[in-house]
Amino acid sequence: MYSDRVLSGMRPTGRLHLGHYHGVLKNWLRLQNEYQCLFFVADWHALTTHYDTPQGIEENVRDMVVDWLAAGVDPAQATLFVQSRVIEHAELHLLLSMMTPLGWLERVPTYKDQQEKLASKDLSTYGFLGYPLLMSADILIYRANRVPVGEDQIPHIEFTRELARRFNHMYGREPGFEDKARAAVKKLGSKKARLYDECRTAYQEKGDDAALESAKALLNDAQNLSMNDRERLFGYLEGSGKMILVEPEALLTEASKMPGLDGQKMSKSYGNTISLREDPDEVARKIRTMPTDPARVRRTDPGNPAKCPVWQFHLVYSDDATRQWVTAGCTSAGIGCIECKQPVIDAVRAELAPIRERAAYYEDNPDQVRNILADGCEKAQELARDTMRDVRDAMGLTFS
Ligand code: TRP
Ligand code: SF4
Repeated sequence: MYSDRVLSGMRPTGRLHLGHYHGVLKNWLRLQNEYQCLFFVADWHALTTHYDTPQGIEENVRDMVVDWLAAGVDPAQATLFVQSRVIEHAELHLLLSMMTPLGWLERVPTYKDQQEKLASKDLSTYGFLGYPLLMSADILIYRANRVPVGEDQIPHIEFTRELARRFNHMYGREPGFEDKARAAVKKLGSKKARLYDECRTAYQEKGDDAALESAKALLNDAQNLSMNDRERLFGYLEGSGKMILVEPEALLTEASKMPGLDGQKMSKSYGNTISLREDPDEVARKIRTMPTDPARVRRTDPGNPAKCPVWQFHLVYSDDATRQWVTAGCTSAGIGCIECKQPVIDAVRAELAPIRERAAYYEDNPDQVRNILADGCEKAQELARDTMRDVRDAMGLTFS
């Protein structure tokens, strides 16, 4: 139940570009081979800032999912779904809102930052303030323990951890917890019970993390425990109440080394992108018109790669030999910029060829995309429902 589970979400921004590919998607491709992964489209999150312009969200969702699939996200390995189709996220968001201190939300750094950055927009809304809590619900509802995010999202993961702790502390302290936990230990059978107790002591008295991990593994493997007993034993292990919600850990995704065509960060709003479905002629045209070291006015002027955005592309795409050829040729004016750009054009085209092919396939087969998402939503919903049963129980909502 508490084995490693990865969850990540992306706002529906429509078609993706090389920045997304090198910054996020390649990381997802690696993770899907290693862990149980859930990847979702955070369409409600889009409304927290764009509530006044909902037009086009649906198309953006589809375009983005086609690009995920085109990049190689594999629905046979990972679960792909759309947030708004798993309405349990909203129920958990509501229930958590009851016990979330307002100050915690006001203190999240993005709250004031974004309000200032997007000053033209009225972001003094309930939904915008609650955005980190919605993100917490997204994570906690799957008991996901690993969440790949960029640097800017780390405070949200920290917020989620504190919230889970507060929740378990507040609602995991059922009457007679200690006795119930002791009874559950016995149900493990004498050998495992002894091992569990030894690990628990080693962790609580000596802070032995390896012992904590072994005990968790033991609980994950134990077949004959009820859900309730399992949660008790996880909580008892760490000295809290029942562990109903799992504290997630951030898997920090390194910032992408992929710059835009002008050397700034690649971003749609800067108009400096190469999209994942870019046509090969367009790839060549965009790279040929990229700015270079301004000192190279004439072909005979030597240049400095460190001052050239094309060099950043070589750092992503070229091997050592090519880079040496660039450095030598540029600084001696031995090669021209058009010549220098050719290996980059070839490499980008080669990278995009299989992606374009898969994108074309999914564009021609929209039903397949719909089915992948319908399947994913169903699987996600099953997991979400399990957690909500426990959360409702813990919060006294047992009316039937
Ligand atoms: N807040 C994230 C962003 O803006 C997207 C997101 C929403 C997310 N819910 C999430 C990411 C849960 C990871 C896990 O980029
Ligand atoms: Fe940039 Fe290459 Fe031209 Fe040097 S030769 S300025 S690295 S494009």
